[in-house]
Amino acid sequence: MSRNFYPELVRVDALDKVRGATKFGTDNRPDNLVHGAFAVATIGKGRVISIDTAAAEALPGVVSVITHRNTTSLKPAQFLMGGGFAFQTHSPLLTDHVAYRGQPIALVLAETLEVAIDATAVLQVSYEEQPFAATIDNPLAEPIAQAEAPMRYPLEDISVGDAPAAYEGGAVKVDSTFTMERQFQNPMELIGTVAAWEGDRLTIHEGTQNAGGCKFGVADQLGINPDNVTVISPFIGGGFGQKNSMQSQLVLAAFASRELGRPVKIVVPRRQLFHDATSRPATRQRVRLAANRDGRLVGALYDVDAQTSKLDFFPAEHADTAARFYGYPAFKSFTRLIRTDIPTPGYMRAPFEHATAFAIESAMDELAYKLDMDPIELRLRNDTAVDVVSGLPHSSRHVAECLRRGAETFGWSRRDPTPRSMFAPNGDLIGMGVAIGLYSGSGGPTRARITARRDGAVSLNVGVHEMGQGVLTAITNVVSKRLGIPASAITATVGVTSGVPQPLTAGSWGSASAVPATEAACDALMKALAEAGVDISASLPLGEMVARTGAGQMQVEASSVAPGQELQVLGRTDTGRVAPAGPVYPGFVAFSYAAHFVEVHVEGSTGRIRVPRVVSMFDCGRVLSPRTARSQAIGGVVWGIGGTLREGAETDARYGGVMNGDIAEYLIPVNADIGSIEPGFIDEPDFQVNRSGVKGLGEVVMAGVAPAIINAVYHATGIRVRDLPLRLEALLKPQA
Ligand code: MOS
Repeated sequence: MSRNFYPELVRVDALDKVRGATKFGTDNRPDNLVHGAFAVATIGKGRVISIDTAAAEALPGVVSVITHRNTTSLKPAQFLMGGGFAFQTHSPLLTDHVAYRGQPIALVLAETLEVAIDATAVLQVSYEEQPFAATIDNPLAEPIAQAEAPMRYPLEDISVGDAPAAYEGGAVKVDSTFTMERQFQNPMELIGTVAAWEGDRLTIHEGTQNAGGCKFGVADQLGINPDNVTVISPFIGGGFGQKNSMQSQLVLAAFASRELGRPVKIVVPRRQLFHDATSRPATRQRVRLAANRDGRLVGALYDVDAQTSKLDFFPAEHADTAARFYGYPAFKSFTRLIRTDIPTPGYMRAPFEHATAFAIESAMDELAYKLDMDPIELRLRNDTAVDVVSGLPHSSRHVAECLRRGAETFGWSRRDPTPRSMFAPNGDLIGMGVAIGLYSGSGGPTRARITARRDGAVSLNVGVHEMGQGVLTAITNVVSKRLGIPASAITATVGVTSGVPQPLTAGSWGSASAVPATEAACDALMKALAEAGVDISASLPLGEMVARTGAGQMQVEASSVAPGQELQVLGRTDTGRVAPAGPVYPGFVAFSYAAHFVEVHVEGSTGRIRVPRVVSMFDCGRVLSPRTARSQAIGGVVWGIGGTLREGAETDARYGGVMNGDIAEYLIPVNADIGSIEPGFIDEPDFQVNRSGVKGLGEVVMAGVAPAIINAVYHATGIRVRDLPLRLEALLKPQA
């Protein structure tokens, strides 16, 4: 079929976003709006004995105060990874139980936000306090072997060959332990809900990665028919996993709105997000690597302690990543979940892969130095075409290509491997480090609908969410190319449950699911036109073809599922459940890969670290839209720098909660921290993982940045840092 070719639009939503015209969830202000604000627990754990609301209710403008005494009609939330919809099972304000410091205990509703906030301060609350553990090292923390935890989707330890014996017999060994503090996403758009009822119909405006989950979740908790709920989330101001499920405020906003008969808005302030939303859990990882003198790994042992809450078992999938870095002849993992009194942790961009790469790839650098071998050469010697865990081939794995091309672009050959041997003109120590990262090439069931009108206009509706990553641009360009129409003729809608079902967009499977579904819908449209008697080979404009059918418009719907999935799996996502597949598929295993090359400059007297230069090479299958891919990559590297040199939630073990719970004190990189970031792409389609050749990019981009920095810091200073965030004092310690 020969179709017209139109240039790709670089970013369909750019104009509205730069003009501030894009409306995010809580930008909506229905008439007669009531504002909600939470009062939060000031104890580490325990029970609410009483809440005296009289003073709050007496404040002019206060409409109502909701506590656990008013909410008996609500059902508790179900945990996302327990087959449900919410970030944890515990629902604040549904019981008197205080599970962690900062948990909401009352919701004040008022005519203005200021009055609502004011009123939270005059509630008189008395508690019964209980002992608690907010950190993984606390004696009251409860470790449990993950393989023995009663989880809905159980995770077993990995054991391939006799790894302990192989490790013992190895000629050159590394045995290192790495720690990482809790981290928080902090998307620009805060978590929040606008809920409004019209009769028995509920409309929710909310920035979420999971409009379908929110629809079914809120219906379940309210005890209403999900058909009566519409969730509207066309744009998200950053999700990064924190918005992948129902948060505490959603059901309470909907409930309060129903009680009051008025629309309710709740925006959870930044400080409260540090206490009642998901985080990347704290981890402690022990890596033991053994190799022959020629650098070939003979065995690896990998132990992980990952923080979870006492409410839910948040899965720790670090070992699934660790086992895929190299072709270890023997590999054994042991994962423990450490139950603590915090909100249930969650998925945060490269949820396991960021931490795992830090540990594995730091240990590989240590091994390279012990072997006196170039770290790229060590990695190339241990590359593999076969997945160690399943014995299946990788569908595509361009790790060696990423390393070689990255090294070339970066100028790796200029590196003198001796630590403390390279200096900048101003006397700073120069360090150069390399590391790889990887992330599952996942996919999942997705539906797409195309409506083509005789005037040439096309509406596209796909089950996916636009959180800034550029999926709207990708699917618009796919339709433009496939149907031979200009992008300006296409209106794409995503994230709104009144159209096709809106499954969770996460796990870097968004584009890898939405694009195949969109392509399938384009093909279905052409097929329907042909079946209506239109000669689709005649290169007629699309609108003309529709006109020739005699109908005003033509609508088709198509779906796609991941390899090995049955079509029935659509039933799960149609009801708001999670149903991704990958990285292990029938007959092959799929991952995306990154190789990062980092240059650091370290000021000798203060230990101050600068990262003037990063070169990163990615294997994400086919690159869908170059501009948004590049933007994703730069963002991921920036976050990698932040996640290594800045970010760490400080927990006070005596009181619980996060002490640096705002983005003034929880440090994130600023422009002055960022130098040149040069991303490159292998751009080889992988047609085994899906028909579009797309493996996913959003998370692999930050996997491996941390160890590349740490390895560069070692090269610069001779100091091996094994605890993140890297603080200056780590470089000021007297060296043995
Ligand atoms: Mo992402 S952390 O899987 O939303």
